[in-house]
Amino acid sequence: MRNEEIIETNREYWDKHADLWFGTTALPKYGVRFPTEDNLHLFGDLNGAKMLELCCGSGHSLLYNAARGAGELWGIDLSKSQLDNASKLLSDNGYSAKLICAKMEDDIDVPKTYFDYVYSIYGIGWTTDLQGTFDKVASYLKKDGIFIFSWHHTLNYCIAWSCDERQDVFEDDKFVMTKSYFDESYFKMPVHGSEIVLCNRKISTYINALAKAGFVIERFIEDSDLDSEEAADKTDLKTRKAEMLPISFCLKARKL
Ligand SMILES: C[S@@+](CC[C@H](N)C(=O)[O-])C[C@H]1O[C@@H](n2cnc3c(N)ncnc32)[C@H](O)[C@@H]1O
Repeated sequence: MRNEEIIETNREYWDKHADLWFGTTALPKYGVRFPTEDNLHLFGDLNGAKMLELCCGSGHSLLYNAARGAGELWGIDLSKSQLDNASKLLSDNGYSAKLICAKMEDDIDVPKTYFDYVYSIYGIGWTTDLQGTFDKVASYLKKDGIFIFSWHHTLNYCIAWSCDERQDVFEDDKFVMTKSYFDESYFKMPVHGSEIVLCNRKISTYINALAKAGFVIERFIEDSDLDSEEAADKTDLKTRKAEMLPISFCLKARKL
């Protein structure tokens, strides 16, 4: 599939289903059954900070940072429906942000060497050009600026219960490897009667691309939070999976 085709398929999905995701993957959460910003404290003092969110979705992370004193907020997202929701959410709460409807892969009219923070919560993995996107993030940040992002952990896509998770049948305590860890090719996935296109990148792919873009890694988190509300039901297969392998990961990097 060509990159443009992948992006258009994903845009169609997000424009159609934006309301279903209203506030679901946003700070202080980095992921489900995963430590939150309240536990991790990856962001420092935000007072007056210039912040850019890639794939800002419904704007709940922008709102979270606005409430913590951020000085300037910018958000980029592919989907107009998501940005309409973000704009309304922020204005309903007395805040505003510069919202730009664009692909993160594009050359966007965003100031260079300007931001204290660039971040993305479950957004970066959608890029069709990881190295190009990280290079752009580096160009937006000041020296020593911070880049934080979370995404699906690669292993979570490769490993499944040997039983049918949807039917919650739980006969044997075994996992099966359903996909090679090394396979970074794109795949289509049906969701909510539409389709999305993603790929599953190795963790080293993210780390090497960050290094090439001029970042040093300060934190790499791949823990599960089994005390979280989502993990309360210890018989839930997703919780049992989170007991054994990372479902999400989060990286904090500093621009050199
Ligand atoms: C899981 S959501 C992120 C939600 C966000 N953290 C929030 O608080 O709502 C992923 C977002 O990425 C956006 N997206 C997908 N591909 C993109 C791309 N190539 N460039 C920019 N945004 C993209 C989607 O429109 C969607 O809003």
